[in-house]
Amino acid sequence: MKILLFGSAFNGLCQRVHRELTVMGHSVSFELALNQESMIEAARLFKPDVIICPFLKERVPDRIWQKHICLIVHPGIEGDRGPSALDWAISSNVKEWGVTLLQAAKEMDAGDIWGTGNFTMRTARKASVYRREVTQQAIQLIKQAVTDIRQYKIRPRPLDYTNPRVKGKLMPLMKQQDRQIDWWLDDTETVIGKINAADSFPGLLDEIFEEPAYLFGAKPETKLTGTPGSIIARSSDAYCKATIDGAVWIRMAKRKYGTEKECIKLPANQVLDSVVAGLDHKVFLPPSQSGSYNDIYWHEKRGVGYLYFDFYNGAMNTEQCRRLRQAVRALKKRPVKVIVLMGGEDFWGNGIQLNCIEASGNPAEESWRNIQAMDDLVEEIILSPKHVTLAALRNNAGAGGAIMPLACDKVILRDGIVLNPHYKTMGLYGSEYWTYLLPGRVGESRARKIIDDCLPMLAIEAFSLGVGDELLEESWDNYHEYIVEYAEKLASPKAHRQLLEQKAKRRKADEKSKPLEQYRKEELHFMRESFFDPKSVYHQARYRFVHKKVDPGCVLRVATHRKQSEKQPPALELAPCA
Ligand code: COA
Repeated sequence: MKILLFGSAFNGLCQRVHRELTVMGHSVSFELALNQESMIEAARLFKPDVIICPFLKERVPDRIWQKHICLIVHPGIEGDRGPSALDWAISSNVKEWGVTLLQAAKEMDAGDIWGTGNFTMRTARKASVYRREVTQQAIQLIKQAVTDIRQYKIRPRPLDYTNPRVKGKLMPLMKQQDRQIDWWLDDTETVIGKINAADSFPGLLDEIFEEPAYLFGAKPETKLTGTPGSIIARSSDAYCKATIDGAVWIRMAKRKYGTEKECIKLPANQVLDSVVAGLDHKVFLPPSQSGSYNDIYWHEKRGVGYLYFDFYNGAMNTEQCRRLRQAVRALKKRPVKVIVLMGGEDFWGNGIQLNCIEASGNPAEESWRNIQAMDDLVEEIILSPKHVTLAALRNNAGAGGAIMPLACDKVILRDGIVLNPHYKTMGLYGSEYWTYLLPGRVGESRARKIIDDCLPMLAIEAFSLGVGDELLEESWDNYHEYIVEYAEKLASPKAHRQLLEQKAKRRKADEKSKPLEQYRKEELHFMRESFFDPKSVYHQARYRFVHKKVDPGCVLRVATHRKQSEKQPPALELAPCA
C-alpha cells in the first residue's frame, strides 16, 4: 500500500513507523506537516491509500480526512481527548494508561476508534513513557490497522461515552499554573511527578534564586535533607533541592528570560552558576557533593560488570565523556571478565552534547574538546585486551552514540529500537573511529551507503546488515534477562579465552594494516574543518537543532513524494553563524 505519514517532526516514533511499514513491504513517504497547505499538497502528490499521523500537532485539513482514511495516534486511553494527555496522566499518578488510534474527524480526537491498548504506567518522565510504552503500543495498533485495511477488514467504532469501558474524557491544555510546585506542601514523589509530567516539554516553571527557570530530569535523593525549596547540594551537572520529606536532584534547567544563548536547556548546575553570577548580592551555595544519585554507575555479578550511563537525552558533554572513560577504566581494574555498556534509560547515546556546545563562549573550541573526549572514550573501549565488551543497545542511539557501541566486541539489539549511525544531517564528517568500526562490521560499500543515505535503521535492519550480533525481544524485562544470560555465557572461562584470543588477533592485524591513530587523525581533520569554519553547515545545523528551528529541507530524504515531483517546500532562512 502507499502510506503517507504526517508528522510535526521526524521524531523517534515517526522514524520507527516509517521503518516498520517499509519493512512490511509498503511504500512509505513522510511529510513534515507544518501547515495545512503542505499536507494537502503532499496528499495530492503521493495519492496515498492511507495516511497515518504518529505525532501531529496540526489539525488535519477537512478535505484530507474527508477523502482519505487518516489515522491519528493519541497517547491516551479510549475517550481521552486533548493536547496534554500524558501530562495529566503522569501528574495524577494513574496506574494504567494507554494509546488510542483514531480516525481524523471534524472534532479533534473525537473520530472513530481503530484500536486502543493499555499499559502499566511507570514512574518516568513524559518523554521516556512516550518513547517506550507509548511507542510500543502505537506500533502494534498501526500495524494491525494497516493489515486490516489491506484485508478490507475495516471495523472502526464510534467514540461512545455511554460505554462504561470508556474511561477517558476531554481534558484541557495543561498550563504552568496546573504544574506549579509548592515546596512547603509537596512531598518528593509529588515534586518528581510534576516535573516528569512536563519533561521534556514544556518543562516545569520554577525559580533559581528568583530567576524563572524550567526544570527537567528529576531524580530522587534518598539521604540528604534540608529546608524545603532550598538548594542543599550540587554535583558536576545537577543541583539538589530539599522537599518536605527528602530532596530531589534537578539534572537540567532552562532559563525563561535572557538571550537566545542563555535560554538553552543545559545541565542545571551550569544554569545555577549563570544565575548566581548575575546576582547583585551574595548567596550561599553548597559545595560539590554527590548524594545517592549518579548518572554513571555500575554493578557486578558473576564476573560481569554492567555499566550504566544515564545522560539526559543521551547526549554526552566533554566532562561526561571523561567521567565515563574513567568509569570504564575503573571497571577494567575490577574482578570482571565481561563489561556490558548499558547506556541510559531513554537513549543509549546521541553523541556530543550540542546544547552545551551551542551555549559555550566558543562553540568551535568546545566542539573540539567534546569530540576529543568522545574519541578517547571510544578508544578506551576498543583497547580492552583483557575484557570482553558488550553493548546492550536497549534504546535508540544516534550519530556518535550509534557508532560508539560498535567499539564493543558484541552488539546486542533490542527489537524495535531505531539507530541513526550517521552524521551528515548535522553537517559533519563524523568521528568515533567510524571509518574503522562501521566498515569493519558491514563492509565498505554498505558503510558508505549508511553514512550517505542518513536513514533511520530499525533493529531488525541493523541486525541483517551486521551492525548487531543478536536481536532480542522488545519486552524490557525479557531483554534484560537475556542480556544477563548472554553476558554470563561470555564470562565462562572457555568463551572468554576464545573471544580474547580472536580479539587480540584481529586488533593486531587491523593495527598492522592501518593504525587506530591514523583513523582518528583523518576523521578529526575533517571535523576540525567543520568546527573552525564559522560558515560551516555544522554551525548552522547545530543552531537550528538546539533552538528547534525546523528546516523542511532536512527531511526531504524521506519525503519520497517530493523527490518524485521535485516540488520542494520553501527553504527557511538560515540562522546567523556561531
Ligand atoms: N545534543 C543535545 N541534545 C540532543 C542531542 C545531542 N547530541 N541529541 C538529541 N538531543 C535532544 C533533543 O534536542 C531533544 O531534546 P528535548 O526533547 O529535550 O527538547 C531530545 O534529545 C530528543 O531528541 P529528538 O531529536 O526529539 O529524538 P528523536 O528520537 O526523535 O531523534 C536523533 C534522535 C538521534 C535522530 C536526533 O536527536 C539527532 O539527530 N540528534 C543529534 C545527533 C547528533 O548530531 N549528534 C552530534 C554529532 S556526534
